[in-house]
Amino acid sequence: MKILKVKNYEQLSKAACDIVTKKIKNIEHPVLGLATGSTPEGLYKCLIERYEAGEITFANATSFNLDEYVGLDETHPGSYQYYMKDKLFNHINLPAERAFVPSGTDEDLQAHCEAYEDKIKKAGKIDIQILGIGINGHIGFNEPGTSFDSRTHVVELDESTREVNSRFFNSLDEVPTKAVTMGIQTIMDADEVVLIISGENKADTVLAFMESEISEEFPASILKKHPNFTLIVDEPAYSKVP
Ligand code: F6R
Repeated sequence: MKILKVKNYEQLSKAACDIVTKKIKNIEHPVLGLATGSTPEGLYKCLIERYEAGEITFANATSFNLDEYVGLDETHPGSYQYYMKDKLFNHINLPAERAFVPSGTDEDLQAHCEAYEDKIKKAGKIDIQILGIGINGHIGFNEPGTSFDSRTHVVELDESTREVNSRFFNSLDEVPTKAVTMGIQTIMDADEVVLIISGENKADTVLAFMESEISEEFPASILKKHPNFTLIVDEPAYSKVP
């Protein structure tokens, strides 16, 4: 595990952006694993700036998002398809047919999950997977207790996850109770994994991560076993680690 400690959110976003930029430049057909939530917003802004400056192109890239809420389609502002278009896809030249986000509205979600895994396999492998972390240690929407062997699957969201994410909805009632997420094994199969953690509100989570034994009760702990894993963390998030 490599740890990159940076001062603040701006530096964290730039550090993640530098790593992704390098991948995009060095690989002919890069396959990106993308996350949503508040943490990667700065990274996406930076990638858009570099694309607009002509420094990088997404013309040959493919992307796979980690997750999507069950029941929300791309027109719902709380959906991750909507988020990705708004924050990244609408502003770069990544071909729409190669920007994959799991569907939360497919009639047969189980078959959809299997097809999503097949698409990743067909793309080769994920060259770089960007992750955020939930306050309970979830990665993707793999909540505590999820098997480390899991592949893309439908999950029941923890109440704590629904509450934290209710900031993206009008009320807690509107937050879906289920989601589709890449599994932990799907994430671990990526060639490189970058976990970004920012802010004082994640200080307890960072402490728990640093002190964690590898256990399904704290899903992110498995990342310590990944051969090419970088944690990028800012000072406020690292503030409780002795
Ligand atoms: C999002 C995802 C989640 C988030 C995590 C942190 O696609 O898979 O695991 O990364 O909940 O979210 P933020 O960044 O909003 O704190």
